[in-house]
Amino acid sequence: MGIQMKGRSLLTLLDLESEEIRFLLDESKAFKQNKSKYIQAQPLKGKTLGMIFQKRSTRTRVSTETAMAELGGHALFLGKDDIQLGVNESLSDTAIVLGRMVSAVLARVYAHSTVETLAKHAGVPVINALSDQYHPLQGLADILTIEEHLGRLKNVKIAWIGDGNNVCHTLMIASIKMGMKMQIGTPVDYMPDISIIDYCNTNASSPEQVVVTNDPIAAVEDAEVIVTDTFISMGQEAETKEKLRKFEGFQVNQELVEHAAKNYIFMHCLPRHKEEVTDDIIYGSHSVVFDEAENRLHTVAAVLNNVI
Ligand code: CP
Ligand code: NVA
Repeated sequence: MGIQMKGRSLLTLLDLESEEIRFLLDESKAFKQNKSKYIQAQPLKGKTLGMIFQKRSTRTRVSTETAMAELGGHALFLGKDDIQLGVNESLSDTAIVLGRMVSAVLARVYAHSTVETLAKHAGVPVINALSDQYHPLQGLADILTIEEHLGRLKNVKIAWIGDGNNVCHTLMIASIKMGMKMQIGTPVDYMPDISIIDYCNTNASSPEQVVVTNDPIAAVEDAEVIVTDTFISMGQEAETKEKLRKFEGFQVNQELVEHAAKNYIFMHCLPRHKEEVTDDIIYGSHSVVFDEAENRLHTVAAVLNNVI
């Protein structure tokens, strides 16, 4: 039996076996290298994707709409003020109605339980376009970018610096599934969710595979990849003052990267704020952030082409 993903939801990378992630990375590369073939074949002709966005987006929205157009399908943007989502109508009713009309639903939400409810009731595949817990589409683009730049995933040493957030959780799961090592440096109050740490501890190939510390220098030691993200995720704006105080010392700057491997690459899912990384690093010669952003298109195309 080959890889079968048609009709399946993607709410977190936990939904995918390692072989399925491998398959999606290879499909992403095929799409990237041979896009005209897909544009000609129009594999999603007649298919519609409903895209619910409770939060803002540049990369996720543009990559998904572009991929749907290139694959021959149609994408329907449903912003937070456009539909009845949980305001005038229950979430489950909205999910059922959408599922009667569209081929799949993509949703960017606050609570992860929202995408779970959509998936439970829609009867069509639901793709998580970011929730408070996970960002699986970003995770796929990130590991594609690592593989392209370092030539492998196995035993790649990743340092995550900053907030133990949705993107961090996703890379932790990706590391367990694809054999990378991860050293996570966060302030004490912003460590990754305990359930994800437990998942890593239970499934790691060795106790060193995914390690959490509160020392950013220890996390960066010998890293081949340094990753950070905004300290203030969407929806956390009220915590800005307190978070900025607690994240002092966690900025990726020249002093910190001195501790990394010589040819390290720097990654950030974007959008970026100044407090988590200095200009000389994000626009410097080690940075691959715009390759990473471009890979959002190729990876979402692979996901859409295989689940719809
Ligand atoms: N990285 C990412 O998801 O970007 P957007 O918020 O612009 O979609
Ligand atoms: N952690 C960030 C990622 C943005 C793409 C957020 O949730 O806002």
